[in-house]
Amino acid sequence: MKALTENISLRPYNSFGIDAKARWFGSFSDVEQLASLLPSDSGHRTFILGGGSNILLTRDFDGIVFKNEIKGITEVHEDEEHVYIKVGAGENWHEFVLHCLHRNWAGVENLALIPGNVGASPMQNIGAYGVELAEVFWNLEAFHIKDKKAVTFTLSDCDFGYRDSVFKNKYRDQFAILNVTFRLRKKPIYHTSYGAIQQELEKMEVRELSIHAIAKAVISIRSSKLPDPKVVGNAGSFFKNPEVTQSKFELLKAQFPDIVAYSLVNGNYKIAAGWMIEHTGPRAERRGQPSLSWKGFREGDAGVHPKQALVLVNYGNATGKSIYDLSERIMKSVEEKFDVILEREVNVI
Ligand code: FAD
Ligand code: EPU
Repeated sequence: MKALTENISLRPYNSFGIDAKARWFGSFSDVEQLASLLPSDSGHRTFILGGGSNILLTRDFDGIVFKNEIKGITEVHEDEEHVYIKVGAGENWHEFVLHCLHRNWAGVENLALIPGNVGASPMQNIGAYGVELAEVFWNLEAFHIKDKKAVTFTLSDCDFGYRDSVFKNKYRDQFAILNVTFRLRKKPIYHTSYGAIQQELEKMEVRELSIHAIAKAVISIRSSKLPDPKVVGNAGSFFKNPEVTQSKFELLKAQFPDIVAYSLVNGNYKIAAGWMIEHTGPRAERRGQPSLSWKGFREGDAGVHPKQALVLVNYGNATGKSIYDLSERIMKSVEEKFDVILEREVNVI
């Protein structure tokens, strides 16, 4: 039986590369192992860790960190149009995407190269380049940590939204997701409406569209603008793109004609937070001063990525607190200049 280790550094386990400690740490590769590692008294805080690519550790974790290492990719069902694939939570997301591409199973090609593990993918309903996890999700099995029993969640149980689910809200830290079943298409429906994909496909001189071409285009765009966590610590977009009403958008547009926004089906607008962060800066915090840009800003080892202002970075030895403090300053100056409140996407611990 696996045991818990005491006082270990979580630095190798988070893509921000933050050096914080876990009081106890253990990994599990099936639900029985998880159950056997859980302490009999319920007084301990627990945290389920995947690939660590969407967390910011602002302090040592005085509880038990459980690293989910459940593996396995199995075809569980098939009908005329779909295959149903059950995947262990500890499988790497991009490896799973490659597995699907190899077998011509369509649906996850736009989600290529997203870091992290399959078990975390429902947590914030991962999304990129016009597709969200919810579109391929069938169900998942999760283990309730306090009640010690497994529960199945269907699509409607998960209450998926933009970078959101029940697991991020009312069930936060209550369940360990064990596996996710995806419903993938035998015949693809292509999603190429996201502008940058079209341009990239043209650049690649693709004559016949395929899920492979789309994945290649997505990988190329992502590699050109998002920093590789192996080179510089980061957790992808630090903030969500905020949604505003049409009247608020019109006010913003009148004042900032170049502002980047997308209309939504409910009549609201999603504003590109990266644009707002690029178009305000540290000096804007002092009233009356002309504004510099946060983009490329660096203080100590905490900074804002020079190519993508939505991504905060750790150049080496930043503390989680210094990254968090920088995020507070950015939120304050965006609110002052645009009267828009940013929300963090990253899970702050
Ligand atoms: P972790 O960081 O380990 O955990 C994240 C949260 O999920 C934590 O609260 C954790 O407790 C919980 N969790 C993890 N596993 C489980 C489980 N098995 N059961 C219950 N709870 C669990 N995200 C996007 O949506 N779209 C993108 O395009 C995108 N691009 C990114 C680019 C870069 C360079 C980086 C670094 C990150 C990006 N992300 C993106 C964010 C991140 O990749 C995703 O959120 C991913 O799903 C996180 O997976 P993880 O395994 O690393 O989760
Ligand atoms: N922009 C700027 N300056 C910047 C960054 C962006 O002006 O520094 C403007 C540009 O006009 C650009 C637009 O914002 O065209 C959108 O930028 P981008 O295409 O890079 O996407 P994003 O809105 O910044 C979102 C997701 C990403 C996802 C991409 C592609 C959120 C919070 N982020 O980023 O997801 O990969 O779209 O779909 O929704 C993540 O969640 O971690 C993540 C990386």
